Amino acid sequence: MEDRKDKNENPDVHITEGLDTDQIDRWIQGNIDGTNPTAMIPLSGNTVTFLHNHALKIAETLVAYKEMMMMYACAMKEIRTKFEVLDMEFKVRYRRNPINSINTRLKKTASIIEKLARYGNDLSLDALELHISDIAGVRVVCSYIDDIYRLADALLKQDDITLIAKKDYIANPKENGYRSLHLIVTVPVFFADQKREMKVEVQIRTIAMDFWASLEHQLKYKQAVPNETAIIADLKACADVISATDEKMLGIRQEIEAIGDKPTEEDILLEKLSRIDEQFQ
Ligand code: GTP
Ligand code: MG
Repeated sequence: MEDRKDKNENPDVHITEGLDTDQIDRWIQGNIDGTNPTAMIPLSGNTVTFLHNHALKIAETLVAYKEMMMMYACAMKEIRTKFEVLDMEFKVRYRRNPINSINTRLKKTASIIEKLARYGNDLSLDALELHISDIAGVRVVCSYIDDIYRLADALLKQDDITLIAKKDYIANPKENGYRSLHLIVTVPVFFADQKREMKVEVQIRTIAMDFWASLEHQLKYKQAVPNETAIIADLKACADVISATDEKMLGIRQEIEAIGDKPTEEDILLEKLSRIDEQFQ
């Protein structure tokens, strides 16, 4: 292959003729893994057209990807609103808010790519929609275990929600002690010219379960943990204590709820009025 440096203003760039797509792929790969020196950039009439077409394709894919992420963000919003509405309604009905906090997160691009690669799927938007269920994530944190199931039932009863999968790690905790109720659902999102059913992963847990999970999660980011076995055992022991405490707190709350309320001033006044009424009947 003959180099024709003289034809190019950039002395680092070698111009070659008759380059095939394999060479371009190797060049792209070389840039990705850092083995390609800049001087290897091949350019010819055909190559420029090829790269131009690719750039267009890449740009189109990026736009489609961003659009899809926007749709997942909207789906997340829909689910968040549903939980906010339920929280308001429960507050009126049970005179307390069942939800402590709602957090939403969109999966990062790097994690999406890593997950697709981990399961041997190709890097396409179709594969992403089909195989990744946790691009949109909603985490609902409650005070009591019964609220978890009440909220899950109330969500699943809604006729626009479809349940795709349910994992009850409260009834069946993971070996490490992890507990939470996981739902994969779809929710329709209405856009200007289309309606899309979007998948959302919902995690519902108590404050105590959330506290435990956030500490346990930190372990995943550590490279070499010297006393890992002991930490894992300590975490499991904490998970058991937390589980027992969650049950106990629920029992205490139910006991307190069963006790009759102190009459309010309004109650006393109404009682007096009805007694007066009785006397004059
Ligand atoms: P991922 O590939 O991690 O999404 O797991 P999965 O597809 O097998 O689904 P699963 O329902 O088991 O877990 C989904 C999510 O729940 C995870 O991404 C975490 O946010 C959370 N989770 C599951 N297991 C654990 C655990 O052992 N510890 C902690 N801290 N979080 C967990
Ligand atoms: Mg996940």
